[in-house]
Amino acid sequence: MDITPILNTLDKLDSYRRLGKVNRVVGLMIESKGPKTSIGDVCYIHTGDTNKQRIAAEVVGFRDEHVLLMPISSIQEISPGSLVETTGKPLQVKAGDALVGSVLDGIGRPLNGEDLPIGLTPRLTESSPPNPMQRPRITEKISCGVRAIDSFLSVGEGQRIGIFAGSGVGKSTLLGMLARQSSADINIIALIGERGREVREFIEHDLGEEGLKKSIVVAATSDQPALLRIKGALTATTLAEHFRDKGKSVMLMMDSVTRVAMAQREIGLAVGEPPATKGYTPSVFALLPKLLERSGTNELGSITAFYTVLVDGDDMNEPIADTTRGILDGHFVLDRALANKGHFPSINILKSVSRIMTNIVDTEHLGAAMRARELLAAYAESEDLISIGAYKHGTSKKVDEAIAYEPKLMNFLKQSTNNPVHYTESRDQLIKLLGKGEQY
Ligand SMILES: Nc1ncnc2c1ncn2[C@@H]1O[C@H](COP(=O)(O)OP(=O)(O)OP(=O)(O)O)[C@@H](O)[C@H]1O
Ligand SMILES: [Mg+2]
Repeated sequence: MDITPILNTLDKLDSYRRLGKVNRVVGLMIESKGPKTSIGDVCYIHTGDTNKQRIAAEVVGFRDEHVLLMPISSIQEISPGSLVETTGKPLQVKAGDALVGSVLDGIGRPLNGEDLPIGLTPRLTESSPPNPMQRPRITEKISCGVRAIDSFLSVGEGQRIGIFAGSGVGKSTLLGMLARQSSADINIIALIGERGREVREFIEHDLGEEGLKKSIVVAATSDQPALLRIKGALTATTLAEHFRDKGKSVMLMMDSVTRVAMAQREIGLAVGEPPATKGYTPSVFALLPKLLERSGTNELGSITAFYTVLVDGDDMNEPIADTTRGILDGHFVLDRALANKGHFPSINILKSVSRIMTNIVDTEHLGAAMRARELLAAYAESEDLISIGAYKHGTSKKVDEAIAYEPKLMNFLKQSTNNPVHYTESRDQLIKLLGKGEQY
C-alpha cells in the first residue's frame, strides 16, 4: 500500500494546539489572554475535560494584548481560566445535493440533531461578491408563479429584491408561494431572528412538503446568540453560492434582513462601536452591502434573491429600509391596508418597482403593464372622491376608465396560496384583461 499521501498529509498537519485562557466575560464578550489568532478565526472554549464540552466562538477584535471573542453557541459554564483553542481558520459550512430537503441551524448543522450526510464540500462562509465586470447582465426572466409579480413586477434570473412589510401582512405566506411555485431549481431559505414557533409553522404550513422537497432551510431563531443569527444569513448565502457554482438557478430567500442588521448592531455595541443612525453601528452598514451583493448572477449560474425588510408603519426611510433599497434591484411593498381588506398577496403595485423588468419582458407585456399601472394610479388619485360618491361620471375620461377596470384588475391581482400561475399565463391574462385599447 502506498502511504505517501498519508505521509504528505501528516507533514502538513499542525501538531501544535494553540491555547489561551479566558480572563474576563462581559455580557456577550469573552476576553482571553492568547492564543495567537486573527480576526474571523473560530476558536473553541473548553469547559470540561472532554472535547465535546466546548463552545465555538469567533475572534471579533482585540483589546490591548487580549483577544475578544463572541460565542457562536450559547455560553454556559465558562469560568476564568477556561482554555481557548484556535482552529486557525474562519467558519466553514458543508454544502451539497444531499442537503436538499433538510432544515439546518445557523452554522449548517441539521436542526434535528442528526449527523450531516457524507460527501459534502466544505466552503468558507465569508467570501467576496462576484467581480462586477464578470457578472453577466440579467436577461432571462424567472417565473415566480405569483400573478401580481410576474405580470406587473417581472423578476429576472439573478435579480435581488427587497420585500418591505410590517408584521403580519403576509411575508411568510408569499415566500412560501414563491418557494413552491417558482421555476427556480432550488430554494435556500434563511429564517433569521424569528420566534421558534414560527420556524415550524413556516416549514409545515407555508412551505409544505412539496416546497421543502426543493429547498434547504437555515434557521437561527431570536433566542440564539447574535453571532449565530448572522452566521445563519452567511450560511444560507454560502449554500446558495455553492449551487450557483454548479450552474443552477437558485432562489435565495431571507426573512428578515432587518433582524440580521439588528444582530450586527448587538455585536457592534458589545465591541464598543459608536451607535449611529437609530442605534445602528457603522459595521451594520458595512455588513449589508457585503451580504446582499453576494447574490445575483455570476458566470456559472444565478441567485435570484428575496430579502424581507421590516418597516414599522409606512416608514420606508428607516435606516435599514433605506440602505437595502439602495443596494437591491427592486422593492415590493406589502400593504397593511390591502391585507386588512383580505386582498392577498398584499403587494401594493403602485409603490413597488422591479428595476429590471423593462430589460426582460416583451414590448406587448410592458405596454400592458404600464397601462394597467396608469389605470390603478388614476383610480388611487380619485379614490377618496369615488368612495364618498362625490365623483361624477363623465368628469374625466381617464377616471371613468379607471373605475371600470379597477375591480377586474384587483381581482386579477388576488391569488390564493395553492394556485400557481406560470409567467406566460399571467402575461397573457393581463394583456387579455386590458382588451381592446381605450374602450370600456
Ligand atoms: N395569499 C394569502 N391568502 C390568504 N390569506 C393570507 C395570504 N397571505 C397571508 N394571509 C393571511 O395573513 C396572515 C399573516 O400572514 P403571514 O404569516 O404570512 O405574515 P407575516 O408577514 O409573515 O407575519 P409575521 O410578521 O408575523 O412573520 C396569515 O395567517 C393568513 O391568514
Ligand atoms: Mg412571517
